[in-house]
Amino acid sequence: MAEILGLTGSIASGKSTVSSFFKKMGYPVVDADLVARKLVLPGMPVNHKLKSVFGSAVFEGSTLNRKKLGQLVFSDPQKLTLLNQIMQPAIRTEITRQLRKYQDEKLVVLDAALLLEQGYQKLVDKVMVVSILPELQVQRLMARDRLPLKEAKQRISSQWSQEKKLQLADIVIDNSSSVEETQHQVLKWLDNSKLR
Ligand SMILES: Nc1ncnc2c1ncn2[C@@H]1O[C@H](COP(=O)(O)OP(=O)(O)OP(=O)(O)O)[C@@H](O)[C@H]1O
Ligand SMILES: [Mg+2]
Repeated sequence: MAEILGLTGSIASGKSTVSSFFKKMGYPVVDADLVARKLVLPGMPVNHKLKSVFGSAVFEGSTLNRKKLGQLVFSDPQKLTLLNQIMQPAIRTEITRQLRKYQDEKLVVLDAALLLEQGYQKLVDKVMVVSILPELQVQRLMARDRLPLKEAKQRISSQWSQEKKLQLADIVIDNSSSVEETQHQVLKWLDNSKLR
């Protein structure tokens, strides 16, 4: 059985930076965001379900317009609940299926921004949280997404706090220094866990 590592952290903490390092090292990575995007592609059962529930106004042909759907559910909490009721079981099932595919590997990583919010702890053996100094988090978010300070702060505060996530971590990777220093921490964990 593969060791399943759940990788998470707040926005712009460095999850993608860490998960691409795992990929570079040759470990399989299941990306929850990619799973969600794949499920709504034309021809997928979830795509049909969304069309029958939310109507063709949020579609272009059989292609879901994610932005329009986002706007629709943003202004209507009941619709958001409905969307979650459709998406979340499908995402969870597909994640489980993909993780199972890698069961003969030593390690498989589940990269999920909302790992803790969605209760995916149950799907993984260990939770790794990428942490970052709050002032650097704002800076990196502003730089990457070209956001003004106010909006960057809003996005950060719309999520669970880092403190809350860190309390649920088995492993903490501090990404406040260089990428090399972060990779060094990951390598050290792999060595200590005899996963390399
Ligand atoms: N150690 C580092 N030093 C400098 N810049 C970094 C470092 N780690 C990540 N970055 C940069 O900070 C930004 C955020 O990192 P990254 O995209 O990996 O975060 P994330 O947690 O995946 O974000 P999101 O929650 O939006 O998916 C990126 O522009 C990335 O290149
Ligand atoms: Mg990312």
